[in-house]
Amino acid sequence: MKCRICETECKMFLDLGRQPIANNFLTEDQFGSEAFYHLGVYFCPACMTVQHRDCPVCSDVFNSTYPFFTGTSQAMIKHFAELAELIKEKYLPAHGQIMEIGSNDGTFLEHFKDGDHMGFDPSESVNRIARAKGIYVYSKPFEGFPVENSKRWQGTTDVFVSANTFAHIPDRHGVIRNIKRMMSVKGIWINEEPYLRSIVDKLAYDQFYNEHVFYTSIVSMQNVLRMHDLEIIDFDLLPTHGGSIRYFIGHKRAERNEKIDDAIKREGLNSFEVFDRFGKDVESHAKRFRQQLIDLKRPIVGYGAAAKSTTVLNYCDIGPDIISRIYDTTPEKQGKFSPGKHIPVVAYSQFAKDDTQDVVLFVWNHGKEIYDKERNRARNWILPVGGAI
Ligand code: TYD
Repeated sequence: MKCRICETECKMFLDLGRQPIANNFLTEDQFGSEAFYHLGVYFCPACMTVQHRDCPVCSDVFNSTYPFFTGTSQAMIKHFAELAELIKEKYLPAHGQIMEIGSNDGTFLEHFKDGDHMGFDPSESVNRIARAKGIYVYSKPFEGFPVENSKRWQGTTDVFVSANTFAHIPDRHGVIRNIKRMMSVKGIWINEEPYLRSIVDKLAYDQFYNEHVFYTSIVSMQNVLRMHDLEIIDFDLLPTHGGSIRYFIGHKRAERNEKIDDAIKREGLNSFEVFDRFGKDVESHAKRFRQQLIDLKRPIVGYGAAAKSTTVLNYCDIGPDIISRIYDTTPEKQGKFSPGKHIPVVAYSQFAKDDTQDVVLFVWNHGKEIYDKERNRARNWILPVGGAI
């Protein structure tokens, strides 16, 4: 495939096979009509971007039934409250303008609803909740926002935030182009996403699924930003989503940034060999994981019907004969079946009554919150991917 960023020929390092849309939990009568896409993960040797070749059209994923709600996790509510605090203290001037790309249920923007704000999200299911909180939402993709037609939006935004959304958008240049046009002279774009170095270190291949298009390293992020005269000014590593990175991005500056240059050197994600090794490790890990479950010869249940679980279940060929049900807190998923493998999703309220010892913790990234919540009963927690919590 040709790189989506620079059109160089890319090389595949991991083939996760035929995968359904990761959050497309279905009813029994929809089993026959599910769409599948090939999920290969590719590396561009020129701009170093890791990406998928095939991705579903936006409206097949982000629509009125999109079932991911940020506010289902107490840890994420706290995370966004802290980010809002940081922005108010350091980045947003009085009467400044803030925009969020992928505003979901408004868990973040809620902290700014009394000021000049706007959220962008193509999924009506989440927009309904955000609007009920008094948040102004534009329900179309940010990259299609017609900035060029109106001076009202040019150079006016002081803070952009995108958290686990930039990686979902195939038109990466379109997003960056709009940010460049809309960002004020001293403006900042705070972008969070799972960090590719953590994915590699933790063998967390479950982060690869049919909602994402890109997985960024510092080096690949810097490369694409520079094409638009933007650059990474700073970054923080975060524990969210099993290991994330928060980029602080601004207009390109004249002076050299040693912190970023050093981080790129240390990161070591600029060669195909690193990813090739990772791909092979994932393959053998997945085989061992499936066998581990079969060898237990006991009933097994799952915890958290996350999008991530779709990749693991379909890649490892694990269906209801191995994991009989998955408990989940999201009402929109309960009573439905997991994409591709059709494992029943059961209301979390039933979990306490379930005596099953062996539990696959699909939401291992929320491990601390969950172990704390479930500490009253001993269970054999099994992690689906390689990393510790
Ligand atoms: P998450 O790891 O946040 O996201 P993703 O879907 O992007 O992989 O998982 C979200 C799902 O996990 C959501 O359906 C709610 C469920 N969940 C639980 O069932 N219990 C919990 O304690 C938590 C934190 C999440």
